[in-house]
Amino acid sequence: MRALVYHGPGESSWDTAPDPGIEDAADAIVRVDTTTICGTDLHILEGDVPEVRPGTVLGHEAVGEVVEVGGGVRAIRPGDRVLVSCISACGRCRFCRQAMYGQCRGGGGWVLGHLINGTQAEYVRVPFAEMSTYPLMGGMGDEAAVLLADILPTAYEVGVLKGGVRPGDTVVVVGAGPIGLAAILTAQLYSPGRIVAVDLAPARMEAAKQLGADVVADAAQGPEQLVDDLTDGLGADVAIEAVGVPESFELCTRVVRPGGRVANIGVHGRSATLHLEDLWIKDVTISTGLVDTYSTPDLLRMVAAGRLQVSSLVTHAFGFDRIKDAYDVFSHPADTAALKVALHREPSHESLLPQP
Ligand SMILES: NC(=O)c1ccc[n+]([C@@H]2O[C@H](COP(=O)([O-])OP(=O)(O)OC[C@H]3O[C@@H](n4cnc5c(N)ncnc54)[C@H](O)[C@@H]3O)[C@@H](O)[C@H]2O)c1
Ligand SMILES: [Zn+2]
Ligand SMILES: [Zn+2]
Repeated sequence: MRALVYHGPGESSWDTAPDPGIEDAADAIVRVDTTTICGTDLHILEGDVPEVRPGTVLGHEAVGEVVEVGGGVRAIRPGDRVLVSCISACGRCRFCRQAMYGQCRGGGGWVLGHLINGTQAEYVRVPFAEMSTYPLMGGMGDEAAVLLADILPTAYEVGVLKGGVRPGDTVVVVGAGPIGLAAILTAQLYSPGRIVAVDLAPARMEAAKQLGADVVADAAQGPEQLVDDLTDGLGADVAIEAVGVPESFELCTRVVRPGGRVANIGVHGRSATLHLEDLWIKDVTISTGLVDTYSTPDLLRMVAAGRLQVSSLVTHAFGFDRIKDAYDVFSHPADTAALKVALHREPSHESLLPQP
């Protein structure tokens, strides 16, 4: 098969690689029809995720068809169209039994495109396949479905649900990349009073408006005053951090109201300062989290029912053989206005989506 193989920091190529085979009775082999690129893949290529060994196939999001299953797999069969989740789950360990699949201690968790070969390939071996894939209904397109492998459940679980968004709330979302935008989309399921999106990039602020932010603010221009004005000096009920730098986390702790909640989604590479000298008296709750993907079935139902419109998060589409172009577009959003980039087995899909 062909696959995007990591060869060390800054190096990857669309190589011929061995076809994956069943290694365990719980495995399935999925023929990948659509995959996508995550910001985390860029982190891996920058060398920030050293446990990824050279030779690993990248990618942790896919939609495809099951072509083979191990002897222990009953719930899915060859021919089934499935979503491959970014999180695999053994289903048996203490954490899986509490639906904390991201923390799986039985060989699951985030393993695809990290500790084992991933989804940016023509075929992928999915471990614990019954727990790590979701059957797809006929009507849902690949581009919509593939967004539910990672960014939608991440934003919804770690941002909106951990942040406890309630009707009427003022919700500040700091960072309007794919994750922040998905938080803006899924926060609306709870009828917040107002969503304020904060970013530095004009294209991202514009996207935030399109996806339902009521107010957008430039992080460089002190959005604290704006939040103050909007909330009679109280602050936001919920502040969702979707960047992953100290400045954005600290901004969240400044704009949250007494008794409010800060939900950190961003992956941080540097220490952020926790200003307990200001926060201790404010009854603030701070949450963190790696996505578990327990919400994926709910999200699939909402997308299928038309309650959640996610397709506009996909801005570009390419055939597999143009995966390097896709990385190029995805990694330069200021020039390309890229959000998510779909990669299709059938290059004919390329023309279905607007190109810049
Ligand atoms: N917790 C999880 O399970 C999980 C899963 C996936 C991704 N993530 C993390 O979520 C974060 C967001 O992901 P993404 O794909 O949307 O990233 P992204 O880089 O595409 O988007 C980040 C956005 O933040 C903006 N930004 C940068 N600095 C800022 C600042 N100081 N203030 C306000 N905005 C600023 C950028 O302009 C950009 O639009 C990343 O850190 C990613 O690693 C977490
Ligand atoms: Zn990801
Ligand atoms: Zn487990």
